Amino acid sequence: MAAPDRNEFRQTVGLLPTGVTVVSAFQDAGPAGATASAVCSLSLEPMMMLVCLDLGSRSLEVVREAGRFGISVLGEGQRASAELFATKAEQEEKWGSVRWRDRLGVPIIEGSLARVVCDVAEIIPGGDHVIVTGEVLEVEADDEPGEPLIYHGGLFRRLDAEADPGAGEF
Ligand SMILES: Cc1cc2nc3c(=O)[nH]c(=O)nc-3n(C[C@H](O)[C@H](O)[C@H](O)COP(=O)(O)O)c2cc1C
Repeated sequence: MAAPDRNEFRQTVGLLPTGVTVVSAFQDAGPAGATASAVCSLSLEPMMMLVCLDLGSRSLEVVREAGRFGISVLGEGQRASAELFATKAEQEEKWGSVRWRDRLGVPIIEGSLARVVCDVAEIIPGGDHVIVTGEVLEVEADDEPGEPLIYHGGLFRRLDAEADPGAGEF
C-alpha cells in the first residue's frame, strides 16, 4: 500500500456514509452555520458530541466566540439547505433561506430531524481541522422523524432499504 494522494484519500474515506448536519452558532450579526458531516456522538456520561471543523470555516470562529453551538440533522428534503450551507454565501443568505429559531442562544433549523445544543468543552487541533467537543445541554427530535439526508461517495443520497432491527443497543 502506497501513501495516498489527496484525491485518493478523499475518495476512499468518502465511501463511509454519513448523515448531514448544519453546525451553527450566534454572532452579533446574527446566526452563522455550515454543513458538516464530521459529526458524531462522543460520550454518554457525560453526554457529549464532537464536530470536526475546517480551520478556514467562518462558522468555527463563531462557535469559538459563542462557546455554544447547535447541530441540526438534515432530512432528505433539505438537500438544498445542505448545498447552500456548504458555500461561502453570506450568512444572511443562508439563514434567510430556512426557517430557524433560537434554542438556548443557538440558531437551529426548523424541519430538521433532530437538534442538539452543546456548550463547547474543548477545541483540539486536528491537522487542517479542529475537533470541537461539546457538552450536551438539550436534545430534541420529532416524534416521527422523517428519512435522513445521506452523504456518500461525494453524492447526496436517500436511504432506500427496509429498516432492519439490528442487534440492539451498543
Ligand atoms: C456533505 C458535506 C459535508 C461537509 N462536512 C464538513 C465538516 O464536517 N466540517 C467542515 O468544516 N466542513 C464541512 N463541509 C464544508 C463546509 O460546509 C464548507 O467549508 C462551508 O463553506 C463552510 O462555511 P462557513 O465558512 O460559512 O463556516 C462539508 C460540506 C459538504 C457538502
